[in-house]
Amino acid sequence: MPRHVAIIMDGNGRWAKAKNKARHAGHRAGVKSVRMSVETAAQRGVQYLTLFAFSSENWARPEDEVSALMNLFVEALRREVTELHRNNVRLKFVGALDELNPGLRSKIAEAEAKTANNNGLRLTVAIAYGGRWDIVQATRALARRVADGSMEIDDIDDKQFAAELQLSETPDPDLLIRTGGEQRISNFLLWNLAYAELLFTDVLWPEFDQAAFDEALSYYAGKQRRYGHTGDQVEAIRC
Ligand code: IPE
Ligand code: IPE
Ligand code: MG
Repeated sequence: MPRHVAIIMDGNGRWAKAKNKARHAGHRAGVKSVRMSVETAAQRGVQYLTLFAFSSENWARPEDEVSALMNLFVEALRREVTELHRNNVRLKFVGALDELNPGLRSKIAEAEAKTANNNGLRLTVAIAYGGRWDIVQATRALARRVADGSMEIDDIDDKQFAAELQLSETPDPDLLIRTGGEQRISNFLLWNLAYAELLFTDVLWPEFDQAAFDEALSYYAGKQRRYGHTGDQVEAIRC
């Protein structure tokens, strides 16, 4: 079982279009797939689930779609947090949260505070998030420490760098799922996905169901993770 599953939830717009609906109806329909993913991850023993909900590039979408999404985030928080809390889920948001409107920011702060002491599934939602932004702000943080004398340049290594990233408290994703048929990363967790297994499915996000989630988990179960070693070396360590 993967310890950490990350998902690029794509295909809402195409789902809506195929049904002759407006794009925001697709986003709305995607909420039930989020609910299912959280429940399934918890049931299967996945410890960390990270969902890409809105990228730094998504700000470029038409204004009405962006505001429909922001409203949907507020509404989903209003409706789902009680149940998440009851299920012992710990909720965290990552991204350039200062770019969000104050109403959404306060809902986020409320949800994080309410669930902060839960020790079940760690659910991270990436909003206004970009992998390059994440790396740039980590670089700035390290540069500041060097400039103020609290760190030497030569002390910068993988570990120190990762500690400044948004997912500093989360192990790297073991499995990345992208729905909607595209085989790209779209500026998601550029650093953290270095050794993730990648599963691309044509299923559109609103139709991503438990069977599809389980299929992704079986795909992962069939993988040998070698991290540069040979297959024989990995077998020898297992025995
Ligand atoms: C993913 O679905 C949701 C967000 C990016 C916010 P899309 O809205 O990208 O759906 P498609 O790719 O247009 O079908
Ligand atoms: C990626 O989907 C971002 C999210 C799912 C939040 P996009 O639909 O924005 O990706 P591109 O633009 O097709 O690469
Ligand atoms: Mg898309």
